[in-house]
Amino acid sequence: MNVSRRLTRIAAHVVSGQIAADIGADHALLSVFLVRNGICPKVIIGELNEGPWRRAQAYVKKEGLHNVIDVRRGDGLQVLAPGEVTTVVIAGLGGKVIADIIMGSLTKAYSYARYVLQPQPPLYPLRKVLTDLGWEIVEEEIVEEKENFYTIVVTEPRQKPAYRLSELELEFGPVVLRKAERPENQEFLRRELRRWERMVESLRASQSSEARARLSHYLLLKRELEEILDAGYR
Ligand SMILES: C[S@@+](CC[C@H](N)C(=O)[O-])C[C@H]1O[C@@H](n2cnc3c(N)ncnc32)[C@H](O)[C@@H]1O
Repeated sequence: MNVSRRLTRIAAHVVSGQIAADIGADHALLSVFLVRNGICPKVIIGELNEGPWRRAQAYVKKEGLHNVIDVRRGDGLQVLAPGEVTTVVIAGLGGKVIADIIMGSLTKAYSYARYVLQPQPPLYPLRKVLTDLGWEIVEEEIVEEKENFYTIVVTEPRQKPAYRLSELELEFGPVVLRKAERPENQEFLRRELRRWERMVESLRASQSSEARARLSHYLLLKRELEEILDAGYR
């Protein structure tokens, strides 16, 4: 089957041999890939909207996998029972939406061992929520596909006391920065640096006091990022 690099890299972080959930599955390609490749014995799909839910059902049926892929309709984690799966995948949704899904069923959210998240930018609000919960980000991976960069964030919901991330880590990811020598991370961070340089230039052109405050904040962070890139890694 023809599955994108983004989806195959998401699959690589799913706990193998255990049941997974794919929340916001849409086309169901990831769920079928997980089962067909022997990564998961069973997958539960959760879809909020009727069109994608029907699309997922149709694809799973066409593949003859309806006995091992359970397609449910509902909002976020509401389709799952506590502890029903080991890994929860939530991919392709906004970072804020993913944070709301976790916070909306927080007690239940603690009952799953691992989350493999692929948020659409900005990622800052999601990383902030995870940090405030004390959920450590155990892995991150940058995937480049068709000139777009996607960030995969893996977190495990056991509270790590005093887990804190710096402003730069909330923006770009603690693991992405720690492993800045990885070629994809370098490329991603250099592109972000160029974006920040443009932002700093437009803030310089503004006279408002708010713009000046933001400018000094971004200049500090930009310098920190430049130092990391110059060093290659920390
Ligand atoms: C852009 S698609 C991502 C599909 C797939 N996960 C991927 O990464 O290719 C987002 C899907 O999430 C669904 N969705 C949005 N909010 C949701 C929620 N709160 N609970 C479950 N599904 C949701 C949408 O209906 C849509 O099918």
